[in-house]
Amino acid sequence: MEKELEYDFIGPWSEIKLEILKKYAKAYSTIISNQTKVKLKHVYIDAFAGAGHHRTKETGEVVDGSPINALNIKPSFQEYYFIDLNSAKIKALSDEAGKRSDVHIYEGDCNVELKKILPKVEYADFKRALCILDPYGLHLKWEILQQIGQMKSVEIFLNFPMMDINRNVLRRKIDSVSEEQIKRMNDFWGDNSWREIAYKREPDLFGGYEEKTSNESVTEAFRKRLQDVAGFRYVPRPMAMRGPTNAVLYYLFFATHNSNGEKIAKDIFRKYNSDNRR
Ligand SMILES: C[S@@+](CC[C@H](N)C(=O)[O-])C[C@H]1O[C@@H](n2cnc3c(N)ncnc32)[C@H](O)[C@@H]1O
Repeated sequence: MEKELEYDFIGPWSEIKLEILKKYAKAYSTIISNQTKVKLKHVYIDAFAGAGHHRTKETGEVVDGSPINALNIKPSFQEYYFIDLNSAKIKALSDEAGKRSDVHIYEGDCNVELKKILPKVEYADFKRALCILDPYGLHLKWEILQQIGQMKSVEIFLNFPMMDINRNVLRRKIDSVSEEQIKRMNDFWGDNSWREIAYKREPDLFGGYEEKTSNESVTEAFRKRLQDVAGFRYVPRPMAMRGPTNAVLYYLFFATHNSNGEKIAKDIFRKYNSDNRR
């Protein structure tokens, strides 16, 4: 007999993330649907979609995940693209939403599958997309961010996996980090320039040593990269998502070419996180 899928357990920080995504997606879909001058077709892409539901760590209650929230938004998006690597999660999502003609579900690595989906949302074809990039760790490749940044038709929310990065790559002694972990970070960052940002050389009597810098210097450098290298026009400071001990688990980035989108995302971040008040 087939084993029933056990939903992932999520903490309060993930519930906040889900609310932020929902609020932004609602505003985005409303604004685009109300445009009268040029009729745009707007699409929702969830590249690390999950099963569609989770259980909360606090009560065990089943809650909707980001793809189901997106399907419930009114006015609706015109099409939905959901990707996940895990076949049991994809099956659960397909059982729930796969029969709809506006829903397209892909089982596989989003670094591969997105290359098939992104050409469907070109700016010149009056297409626009909101793309959610929400991995648990360093699973996204920079080339995808670079491709999206150049398109001008796609805005993103990106989970910057600080905990995975701190645990596995930005160790106190970088020399002790394996080649495999360095490669994961290079693939995510796009090159190895993170090393100079994440470590500074301190002098001592024995020729100096490398000292780790802060989460903030790393994320600020990544924010600038999204603008200067990937080419997104607006990238506000990300929102720090904190766990029970107040340590940052990940940063939620938003990037767009649209000034109105930036304003709305900043307002939402500000409402949820006093860290983002300027
Ligand atoms: C944080 S969960 C997504 C949660 C979902 N966005 C939500 O809020 O409901 C991350 C998901 O990414 C999937 N995943 C991991 N690596 C992947 C990859 N390379 N491509 C696509 N999905 C992947 C995992 O199976 C997992 O379901």
